[in-house]
Amino acid sequence: MPHPVAIHFREIDSAALGAATGRLVLLGDPGERIAPAARALDRRLRGALARAVASEAFAKLKPGEALELGFPAGLPAEAVQIVRLARRASVAEARKAGATIAKALGASGALVLTGAHRLAHEISFGLALRAYEFGAHKTGAPKVFGDVGFQVSDPEAVATLARPMAALAEGVFFTRDLVNEPANVLTTDDFAARLAAMHELGLDVEILEEGALKALGMGALLGVGQGSDSPSKVVVMQWRGGAEGEPPLALVGKGVVFDTGGISIKPALGMEEMTMDMGGAGVVAGVMRTLALRGAKANVVGIVGLVENMPDGRAQRPGDVVRSMKGDTIEVINTDAEGRLVLADVLWYAQERFKPAAMIDLATLTGAIIIGLGHENAGVFANNDALAAAILKAAGAEGEGAWRMPMGEAYDKKLKSRVADMRNSVGRPAGAITAAQFLARFVKPDTPWAHLDIAGVALPPEETELAPKGATGWGVMTLDRLIRDGYERR
Ligand code: BES
Ligand code: MN
Ligand code: ZN
Repeated sequence: MPHPVAIHFREIDSAALGAATGRLVLLGDPGERIAPAARALDRRLRGALARAVASEAFAKLKPGEALELGFPAGLPAEAVQIVRLARRASVAEARKAGATIAKALGASGALVLTGAHRLAHEISFGLALRAYEFGAHKTGAPKVFGDVGFQVSDPEAVATLARPMAALAEGVFFTRDLVNEPANVLTTDDFAARLAAMHELGLDVEILEEGALKALGMGALLGVGQGSDSPSKVVVMQWRGGAEGEPPLALVGKGVVFDTGGISIKPALGMEEMTMDMGGAGVVAGVMRTLALRGAKANVVGIVGLVENMPDGRAQRPGDVVRSMKGDTIEVINTDAEGRLVLADVLWYAQERFKPAAMIDLATLTGAIIIGLGHENAGVFANNDALAAAILKAAGAEGEGAWRMPMGEAYDKKLKSRVADMRNSVGRPAGAITAAQFLARFVKPDTPWAHLDIAGVALPPEETELAPKGATGWGVMTLDRLIRDGYERR
């Protein structure tokens, strides 16, 4: 899906700024003098810029927020937006400044004078992320954005820094599109076809159909999908940008295209949100897209389990016992605890086939993680402190909330079943942790593993700093950074 804002970087051109009829965007901070390039404009504005930056209203703004002069006398511009951003601003502040520009952007576009600001590329990244719109199902004229021209001191240098960020933005948009898409459009077939199309980018994509999954013994995953008309699938995406033979990082995603709960059916109120239950698979897909677009020098394999959890005459029942690919048997206490059944088989397959250097799964796994952490942080579970620390560090650097959760024997014990090796549901206390313990039973002791429960952050109820209301793409930026910092050869 094409995304609408075209951004380019040019040299500073006062004549173009003075003649612009769209929006003009300038940076300012009360503690700093007006940048030389903005001074000529301030003269045309008869000092209004200097007065605005020195005003009480401006002092009340947080970094990245803005004040606006509409139809300024002295300039043909439609508006002058003055964004509060200090020269020493943080990356998060610069991205927020970009988002502020995006929120006000219209068809006439904008000229943004960032001059010598060292984070011009981050401002443009924030702008691109916040200008995203999911318009696929709105009839009528789509929202159009005019071009955005950044005037910078060194256009080549900024463009070089911005290039990999454009790949990252495209990955985030791919994830958001998948998560926002309704389940009658994004069926397992449609999802798999969108992943297969990434072959063009240099990814190796394989689709395992039900026959192959049966032959592999994936009874846990197949049980979840057996009540749906949409066939269950596992899709394997490989990016081999690293050294030949080097074991890959494995990313595993829960791809429940719709979760009714199955026979343990969910209440009607809010069930429509379960179109996002493929969010983990969506993040894996977005990361793989980014890696391919920026030509990452790392070996990464993304594996997603695509199923639909429906009630039906053929659906699995509470009390059924299924056999996982690992061989362990599972008593299905609650057909709504389906994500862990899907992941059990995909995690096992990932390890058996790829012997990964590390494995990270992402899943909208539990409502309990939302009770615990709200929509601000994803839950991070891990069997390895170094991996957990690296994930938290990457998330912190990208401004994506993440918080480590405990695990342990005492929680694992609760998974005991009367009739099988384990049961899939335990009850309310520590629901996110017992879900993680269930997954841990399908992780080999020598595989460094982390599980990210993204149920609260994939599709929060309100807009966020960098995303309009709807899917955020949480995790694409964190995982891309984790790979850049820890898994790429230089
Ligand atoms: N997909 C849900 C979890 C979820 C809830 C995601 C809310 C996003 C928002 C998951 O499959 C589920 O139903 N989990 C149950 C587990 C329970 C039956 C043990 C839950 O959290 O209630
Ligand atoms: Mn469920
Ligand atoms: Zn689910």
